[in-house]
Amino acid sequence: MKKINIGLLGLGQIGSGLYEILKAKKSLFERQLGVSFELKRIAEKYPNARRKVHPPPSLMTKDAFAVVRDPAIDVIVELIGGTTVARELIKESLKHGKHVVTANKALLAEYGDEIFELAHRKKRWLCFEASVGGGIPCIKALREGLAANRIDSVHAIINGTTNYILTQMTIQGTSFADALTGAQQQGYAEANPSLDIHGVDAAHKLAILARFAFGGKVKFKDIYCEGITAVSSDDIAFAKEFGYTIKLLAIAKKTGDGMEARVQPTLLPNSHILANVNGSFNAILMHGDEVGDVLFYGRGAGPHPTASAIVADLVDIAKAGAQGPAEDHFMVRALGKTIPVKSISSILSRYYLRFYVIDKPSVLAGISKILGKYQISISDVIQRERSAGRAVPLILLTHGAHEKDLRAAVHEIDRLPYIKGKTQVIRIEGA
Ligand code: HSE
Repeated sequence: MKKINIGLLGLGQIGSGLYEILKAKKSLFERQLGVSFELKRIAEKYPNARRKVHPPPSLMTKDAFAVVRDPAIDVIVELIGGTTVARELIKESLKHGKHVVTANKALLAEYGDEIFELAHRKKRWLCFEASVGGGIPCIKALREGLAANRIDSVHAIINGTTNYILTQMTIQGTSFADALTGAQQQGYAEANPSLDIHGVDAAHKLAILARFAFGGKVKFKDIYCEGITAVSSDDIAFAKEFGYTIKLLAIAKKTGDGMEARVQPTLLPNSHILANVNGSFNAILMHGDEVGDVLFYGRGAGPHPTASAIVADLVDIAKAGAQGPAEDHFMVRALGKTIPVKSISSILSRYYLRFYVIDKPSVLAGISKILGKYQISISDVIQRERSAGRAVPLILLTHGAHEKDLRAAVHEIDRLPYIKGKTQVIRIEGA
């Protein structure tokens, strides 16, 4: 029987989920996996906070550094989150010869070079399945199942909170604020939900995915990031009329000289496989040169799905052996040359445009003249019935256009006297 002594940092929602699973399935793991997980110590800043689980007080400490330096511990599970104290704790763990399992996407996206390099140098396992896609084993797929492939694109729904919000708004007609409250109550949202709704959490995960999918360093700050706060119920309804669903997509595409990488609200045709990924579910669609399209679907947030991925990492470490890797080739891949990210202005896309216009002769002609000047071709249009004296929505879908041209055209259109309010621009994919 392999025995792994664990030090857990953070007994929040995910930490509590992990505690429950390790306790409830201890004998099952021993029987089925031949691994005995011993939770030796738990560091928690607020030991008396209300929570579902009640570990024996003898396991608890407020001193996380004492846990990472404890010679009796083999693996540190870091579930504190954030990029300050968690960064120091992970570095300290690796320096003290511990293997590390973490769900910390922000840290790996922003300080991955430093952390991956240190793990590689110290020959320790650094496992992070839970950092992307919650319970979906997408990192393991990149490490093992897709090993024969060069991955050339990733299209992913990797934020449960925003997918839950958009689904509630689309299917139930719930307001943005109520849907966000629901996501928080169910434990999907980050401690600071603005990371979810502004797309930053998805961009963190995309930085990690792109790094291991394409092989090379990815500068997080180069990833273009747009959240869902500007998506209105009107946009969702108009998209529906055209046969589209709005999703927050994380997209990375390998190009000849680098990659495109962005997080954006996106119109997807209703027939697209990702258009039907609802609620807190995540899905990661990758294209490999040998396998073609491959889709991973599952719960991307919540205590038990995330803890499921953490246990999988613990099992991998137990099976690989506590002596650590002689050379972790997967990690070497992530330490390759920086992959340059193309600027958003140079991408080619189709677009949904929503204008508010005063309904009078020549309005459509004026708008289409400017679009034509920038070589932007209209593929579809809806205008609402006239409502005397009030601005009405005018929605256009375009064929493929360069973002730089589209932005210049919208800037010019917005100066026309009959344009009222801010023009909405949402990219279209998969059509
Ligand atoms: N806040 C994240 C989400 C949690 O909503 O997907 C999982 O990383």
